[in-house]
Amino acid sequence: MSISKAFNSNVTSQNSIEKRLQIQRLVKATEVVTLSAGSDVVKGLTQIPKSLPPCYFYDDRGSELFEQICDLPEYYLTRTETTILQQCADEIAKITGACELVELGSGSSSKTRILLDAYQQRGYPLHYLPIDVSTGILESSAKQLLRDYPSLQVYALAGTYELALAQLLARQLPSRMICFIGSTLGNLTPNECDILFSEITEALQVGEYFLLGIDLRKPKQILEPAYNDSQGVTAAFNLNMLEHLNQRFEGNFDTTQFEHWAFYNESEHQIEMHLRSLRSQIVELRALNLKVDFALGETILTEISRKFDLNAIKQQLTAQGLLPLHVWTDPNQWFGLLLCQLQA
Ligand code: TRP
Repeated sequence: MSISKAFNSNVTSQNSIEKRLQIQRLVKATEVVTLSAGSDVVKGLTQIPKSLPPCYFYDDRGSELFEQICDLPEYYLTRTETTILQQCADEIAKITGACELVELGSGSSSKTRILLDAYQQRGYPLHYLPIDVSTGILESSAKQLLRDYPSLQVYALAGTYELALAQLLARQLPSRMICFIGSTLGNLTPNECDILFSEITEALQVGEYFLLGIDLRKPKQILEPAYNDSQGVTAAFNLNMLEHLNQRFEGNFDTTQFEHWAFYNESEHQIEMHLRSLRSQIVELRALNLKVDFALGETILTEISRKFDLNAIKQQLTAQGLLPLHVWTDPNQWFGLLLCQLQA
């Protein structure tokens, strides 16, 4: 093949990837007008106890570290959910029929491939609507998927779940399924969780589907190592939030002066992840015009990861009109995958 032909064929395949990809960036009107970026950081660092919004985990380095967490021997969640998905993906495709997959917090979309394979094997058209706050990971994983699935169409939305769910494109296939896997639900407070469920029921039509993956309650001896791995990847992931804030808001956090601290709060049934100050210190975030005092041992809460009771979550979903049609778990009952259908 001549060089020009090789070049042309490359352009053609790139074009067809571009034609099958749409990425829309969503911004709240008020954010543009008031330039309020960072007000959540100011709020979290000036209250007692201090906290930071988990969305600041995910700069490029944070997304990379998170991918590494998913492969850690102690982090049973990804492995367990993947095995469950492999076992039930065809049944899910059979129940829903041809449908568009909308994914909240799609990240690298690696588990989604199991679902796409099942829909493809049944000969259904493949439409995927990933939603993620990180435009970088959205674009790179969409391009990889489009290379691997020649008939796939991707309509990606970069923004919060709230904005994206309110602005989904009109349906092009008979049905739709919103997927929220990886137990990301556990990273929301009960109140945020209620709000999300109502946004989901608003976005679906009666008879459409919601696929939810959740981490179940289990002994502390299994839970705690999953958030305190021996290689220190979770610690690096947690501390990276401070680097991200330094970059984004001209900060001077010294990451050697904070340590990762995660434990299972048994009465709340949740992992709590903190950053603990190793000395008394003052940190400045110049772009936010903020100086923060830390006492020795003072902590910043960066994440909760709630662990669920299967019966309680089934009842909660039913009460929201999302009837669980099927529940799949692993032999240890460590993780649950629920396929729900919106009732009239
Ligand atoms: N939702 C997953 C969990 O709660 C992933 C996750 C979010 C996570 N933040 C994390 C994993 C921090 C490890 C550390 O486990």
